[in-house]
Amino acid sequence: MEERTINVDLCSTKKEKPKSDQLQFGRVFTDHMFIMDYTDSIGWHDARIVPYQPLTIDPSAMVFHYGQSVFEGLKAYLSPNGEAQLFRPKKNLQRLNRSNDRLCIPPIDEEFGLKAIKKLVAVEEEWIPKAEGTSLYIRPFIISTEPYIGVAPSRSYKFIVILSPVGAYYKEGINPVKIAVENKYVRAVSGGTGEAKTGGNYAASLKAQEMVANSGYAQVMWLDGVERKYIEEVGSMNVFFKINGEVVTPVLNGSILEGVTRNSVIQLLKHWNIPVVERRISMEELAQANKDGLLEEAFGTGTAAVVSPIGQLTWNDEHLFVNNGKTGDVAKRLYDTMTGIQYGKQEDPFGWIEKVKNVCKTT
Ligand code: COI
Repeated sequence: MEERTINVDLCSTKKEKPKSDQLQFGRVFTDHMFIMDYTDSIGWHDARIVPYQPLTIDPSAMVFHYGQSVFEGLKAYLSPNGEAQLFRPKKNLQRLNRSNDRLCIPPIDEEFGLKAIKKLVAVEEEWIPKAEGTSLYIRPFIISTEPYIGVAPSRSYKFIVILSPVGAYYKEGINPVKIAVENKYVRAVSGGTGEAKTGGNYAASLKAQEMVANSGYAQVMWLDGVERKYIEEVGSMNVFFKINGEVVTPVLNGSILEGVTRNSVIQLLKHWNIPVVERRISMEELAQANKDGLLEEAFGTGTAAVVSPIGQLTWNDEHLFVNNGKTGDVAKRLYDTMTGIQYGKQEDPFGWIEKVKNVCKTT
């Protein structure tokens, strides 16, 4: 039987909050966190908000050995009238359960998960930063905790939500980033775990990223795992190209993460009657479009990255300079509209915003 109440244990001393105009991404965490446990015999139970603290986990817990873990990323924003609001949180909870399914982790009740997130954000409302471009990043995750080193699905788990006040994801802020196209390593293949949000995908991406980081590349762009030909996604973003007036993004093929921002951007482009197509696109085609002067814009999308213009793509020895290294009009319009809706400064024609209010803070 699903647990319906959330116990709240508030901390007695609060941490000092960082200045909101100096925030980086993901380095500071708030005063409280949400935890809920799972065992095969009881199901999900003991939902609670407690002071932020280290976990005590057995060294043989399965997550340390076989990586059975999933996570999500969403944000809370402060609207001009001081209300905390979330952007399409149900999409994140649905994706969390799709990732759970792929990793053999028991599903959570999505409605209850949303209630838990709202309640935690309500408790930590004063942590939502106010400076332009800042927000409270919400990181729900699930880890397998059974003390057992046989390879099998764990029979116990923890679902945890932590919060971090954040600024821009890239040090470049909203300015165009440089991306290296990765030819040797691959992130995922169709049939693998590429479309699940699981830690192993990110662990597998580090090597390639480290190899180019010192040359000023913010991230790498992955090609398909079979032919190393078709574009998949960039480190922590889905990717879009404007070619000769049409916006193209790689079609979801099982190895690409189905981004909430990706989906929102496609809806916005359609709403504006800007041609947008999801299809396979090869690196060769992109390089040719650039040579022909048809590659007008490139940008990535993600919760952390929002809409990030790409000013340069390096593929082997070829450098594709996009829009003279400047932010394109479509990327700018998307960024302004997405953040306008997220921060409640603009109308929300799609009903994407969920207010945090009406959540009782102490029971
Ligand atoms: C997000 O955009 O929220 C992500 O999960 C990317 C993350 C790996 C920083």
